[in-house]
Amino acid sequence: MIELLQKSARSKGSSGTRLAIVGATGAVGQEFLTVLAERNFPIESLRLMASARSAGKTMTYQEKEYVIEDLETADPDGIDIALFSAGGSISKKHAARFAAAGAIVVDNSSAFRMDPEVPLVVPEVNPEAAFTAPRGIIANPNCSTIIALVALWPLHQKAGLRRAVVATYQAVSGAGARAIEELERQTRDLLSGKDARPEIFSHQIAFNLFSHNSKIGEDGYNEEETKLSKETHKIFNDSTIGISATCVRVPTFRSHAESINAEFHRAISPDEAREILKNAPGVKIVDDREGNHFPMPLETAGQDLVFVGRIRKDPTAPNALAFFVSGDQLRKGAATNAVQIAELLATQRTR
Ligand code: A2P
Repeated sequence: MIELLQKSARSKGSSGTRLAIVGATGAVGQEFLTVLAERNFPIESLRLMASARSAGKTMTYQEKEYVIEDLETADPDGIDIALFSAGGSISKKHAARFAAAGAIVVDNSSAFRMDPEVPLVVPEVNPEAAFTAPRGIIANPNCSTIIALVALWPLHQKAGLRRAVVATYQAVSGAGARAIEELERQTRDLLSGKDARPEIFSHQIAFNLFSHNSKIGEDGYNEEETKLSKETHKIFNDSTIGISATCVRVPTFRSHAESINAEFHRAISPDEAREILKNAPGVKIVDDREGNHFPMPLETAGQDLVFVGRIRKDPTAPNALAFFVSGDQLRKGAATNAVQIAELLATQRTR
């Protein structure tokens, strides 16, 4: 902790953070800028980086233009915090270089999440973990994990999570800006009588859904499903919790949804769960049975809260609940969570 604070304790009294965004042109990268502006994050200087394809182009932040730098040749000196979202291989190649130059890297990829020397942080759950980062790297969890855990954590604190069965309904934007274009293009093409032509995904996504587009392991679970399980263990610091996930890509543009059946060690009723979640940070209850109005991607898109609803007893196991959540995976599932981590670090820095 001391090491990290020293690293970021560049100059007390400075007006803000010297921030870099790596992957600034991507779906999450652009969202970083929106979230930083909305939350009025104190920025002393801002640098935007992407691939050589984007280098020299400009992006606007708070009415000021910034020239995008080529990450490959960018000098990481003089950066306090670098928000990385350019994919795992880019993080593996460049994060250590930035950390060695004095930056704290908040990495949105899966490259370092399971590294025991890299904290995996959801600020509503384990904010203290952000201050012990011996490699100068903090990992942002997988989007589906963050959205599930914001709702599961307060219930876990009350009743102790024993196991959870999770099914996800994941929007295409989780696969990046080009996947968003693919859904749009395929929808237009199909509605005008043309073929769908999959490019980013291996199957047609418009008017279809399919098992998540990540590699399947020997146990039959795909990488996204395995992440949900392993990351939950690390963030909750409890590897005894059983998780079985089925992750599915659906033709929505933005915001994931998840159906969760959770069994607890101790008794917890749906009313108790509703009361706990009503007061939980980052959660909004949307549970209108009469109006059949529950969490929906269209209503969570563009904001930071995880909506929770359909809270009911799961009669198939003792102490079990079923509920449904939705959250914007580009925001709370990625950019907002990373900016919240940066805020934690910046607060410490100015103390
Ligand atoms: P670029 O736009 O220059 O390709 P998304 O997740 O939406 O697909 O975005 C990926 C982000 O990662 C983009 O900002 C993209 O920049 C960036 N990126 C991809 N490849 C590289 C690379 N080799 N070096 C730096 N940034 C990269």
